[in-house]
Amino acid sequence: MSKVKNQFVCRLCGGFSPKWQGQCPQCGEWNSLEEQVAKVVTTTGRFQSLAADGAIKNLSDVEAEELPRTPTHLAELDRVLGGGLVTGGVVLIGGDPGIGKSTLLLQALARLSESLPVLYVSGEESAQQIALRARRLGVPAAKVRLYPEISLEKILHALEREAPKVVVIDSIQTIYTEALTSAPGSVAQVRECSAQLTRFAKRHGTSILLVGHVTKEGALAGPRVLEHIVDAVLYFEGDTHSSFRLIRAIKNRFGAVNELGVFAMTDKGLREVANPSALFLSQHDVPVPGSCVMVTQEGSRPMLVEVQALVDDAHAAQVKRLAVGVEQNRLALLLAVLHRHAGIAAFDQDVFINAVGGVRIVEPAADLAMLIAIVSSLKNKALPNKMVVFGEVGLAGEVRPVQRGQERLREAAKLGFTHAIVPKANRPRQPIEGMTVTAIDRLEQAVDAAFW
Ligand code: TYD
Ligand code: MG
Repeated sequence: MSKVKNQFVCRLCGGFSPKWQGQCPQCGEWNSLEEQVAKVVTTTGRFQSLAADGAIKNLSDVEAEELPRTPTHLAELDRVLGGGLVTGGVVLIGGDPGIGKSTLLLQALARLSESLPVLYVSGEESAQQIALRARRLGVPAAKVRLYPEISLEKILHALEREAPKVVVIDSIQTIYTEALTSAPGSVAQVRECSAQLTRFAKRHGTSILLVGHVTKEGALAGPRVLEHIVDAVLYFEGDTHSSFRLIRAIKNRFGAVNELGVFAMTDKGLREVANPSALFLSQHDVPVPGSCVMVTQEGSRPMLVEVQALVDDAHAAQVKRLAVGVEQNRLALLLAVLHRHAGIAAFDQDVFINAVGGVRIVEPAADLAMLIAIVSSLKNKALPNKMVVFGEVGLAGEVRPVQRGQERLREAAKLGFTHAIVPKANRPRQPIEGMTVTAIDRLEQAVDAAFW
């Protein structure tokens, strides 16, 4: 009797291994190999390239025209997409369950349906559920074509027949192709289905939006290759407890990646927040210790975010270092810099740090604000009212300039802030009305300026 031969596939990179191992030999990730039946698949066109034209040409001879874009009429989504959906573009949207992926896409599709043929393919919810949601959202649903189906072959067939211009696949993890034996959601299925859909999109000039699940570690489920196949990867963030939802582009072949779209979840679905600058500030009647406001620049838009720190005597042998919304590793590093260069020790203290409102700050401009908040909590001394702080802190204790310092300061002034501590090179050339700027180039100076 012949034995069925199995192989092991990495959940993250899609690499193969003939036997089980604790660590993926390709990407080095631990516990990521999953067993699969090895099967030779012979479907025609399985290994076609994703690009249509294969002839060799001079680059200058290739006709390059601006890709036509279709605005979704949700301004915040368009901002993240770089101006709208690109014809033939494939966008992957990931995020925690229940964060609003289906809601957002239904809203966008309903608006698009007024001018274009659209199709919503749902593998997760029944037609009734979607109809109920559309009614609740109050969106024009008359022209939204709906197809509850999970077989890739049937979906591709329907796409040929219906010829929609925009398609939503909710979600890619529920779709399966007959060509593979593995279950929907497995690495091979996700990769194969998205490759086939991408090929369809490029060939027919259809824009496809794929919904992707996230694993419990927070990464997009399915192989990493999925992110390579698609043209743009958007990520839904935000605290499911707060009503704000942020959409960030992680990859975008047709636009900038650091743009951020801001929405608020209401009983009528997701509503755009056009001016989010003041969203991530908590309202204190009197200044409180441990709170520091910074200006972060998300793409083309500055935003004010309050960073809060709590420093408390440690009672366990191991001190706690916890960062929410800012980088955890950065926190340990900054505490070392604080001790070494400003002479402020926190090695017997638990340090907790949080960016208000569920926002995630990825840029190093938050360094100085984190440190000032920590010092403020440690000294139990509040910062002066209406003060903003930003700057990147280096290992030598220097404070480095950040991009677009002027715009950040102007935004802060617009929201009524009157003092700023900023890196020297970010000192405004012309004074900003109503704003006193203290320019510093070392961490010690910043601490002195904040707590004179
Ligand atoms: P959903 O779009 O189903 O999330 P996902 O597809 O990302 O899993 O969002 C569902 C959540 O959104 C649910 O918890 C309820 C909330 N919601 C509202 O608050 N208002 C609304 O109008 C809708 C449609 C959903
Ligand atoms: Mg959903």
